[in-house]
Amino acid sequence: MEKVKPLLSDGTLWIPGSYSSFSSNYDSLFYFIFWLSVIFTIAIVGVTLYFSFKYKRSESNLVAKKQIVHNNKLEIIWTAIPFVIVMFIFYWGFKDYLYMTVSPENAYEVRVTGKKWFWTYEYPETGVKTVGELVVPVGRPIKLVMSSTDVLHSFYIPNLRVKRDVVPNKYSNLWFDVTQEGIYQIFCTEYCGDQHSNMDSKLIVKSYEDFLDWMEEQKRGASKDVPLDLLGKKLYKEQGCNSCHSLDGSVVVGPSWKGIYGAQRLLADGSEVKVDDNYLRESIVYPAKKIVKGYPNIMASYAGLLSDREINGIIEYIKTLK
Ligand code: CUA
Repeated sequence: MEKVKPLLSDGTLWIPGSYSSFSSNYDSLFYFIFWLSVIFTIAIVGVTLYFSFKYKRSESNLVAKKQIVHNNKLEIIWTAIPFVIVMFIFYWGFKDYLYMTVSPENAYEVRVTGKKWFWTYEYPETGVKTVGELVVPVGRPIKLVMSSTDVLHSFYIPNLRVKRDVVPNKYSNLWFDVTQEGIYQIFCTEYCGDQHSNMDSKLIVKSYEDFLDWMEEQKRGASKDVPLDLLGKKLYKEQGCNSCHSLDGSVVVGPSWKGIYGAQRLLADGSEVKVDDNYLRESIVYPAKKIVKGYPNIMASYAGLLSDREINGIIEYIKTLK
């Protein structure tokens, strides 16, 4: 598979490579403000230094020769010029902001849900759901309708210059198009707890034909012929299980998967449970029902996100982790 577009070596020192139809406008404004700031910084520091030396207190220059208290011409100039510059930046920024905010009528809609600590995507047209991978066709406007099931998150694709907060009990929108096929990095950019820095995701941009093929494959319940434990292994990463459950016995957020199958666990309510297929299935679909003692009750339900076969795959994978 193609590599994820690098954020540091692609683009310039200041901003990563630009791959959206509006990102070049965005960059122009960024560089305009950037260079304007550089020019003003040099000018202001330069004049300050020059005057500091020129009017330095010295033996021959002990008393001010005259006091200037007011200068209308100067005041008008230094008010008018910044006003024009600032209004120009406002006009430019607002124009682009409107363009980036109002999505085109024909935009392809995808619903996005932020959850501690992963992103899920749903394609309303087909009912297909994915976790951790947003797949879209190249060159088409895509509109995201986003919400969160727990805390504030923020959806950010640096290469496309789009970022918007994702808030519980409310929908926020964002639209973009991508000019080049490839894989792009998506980040959560609002601190949302322990695993915030691991709440990343991939934007996979395919040609329209490949996108349609991919969608067909998803509809057929993809990867039917992958052996169950391998399917589980793949899902472990794709579904974000890895952000809370380790494979080596270490505690991340939830219990490690290593060696749990067949073990007896002590629950928060004092009862005991044997980790078997039914318990694992219940813990995936209704995570809050039986909490292992000593762990927080924070896992989100995967009901509706995983097919039966995928749940079986995860259970089979856990069985292999002796
Ligand atoms: Cu979600 Cu940070």
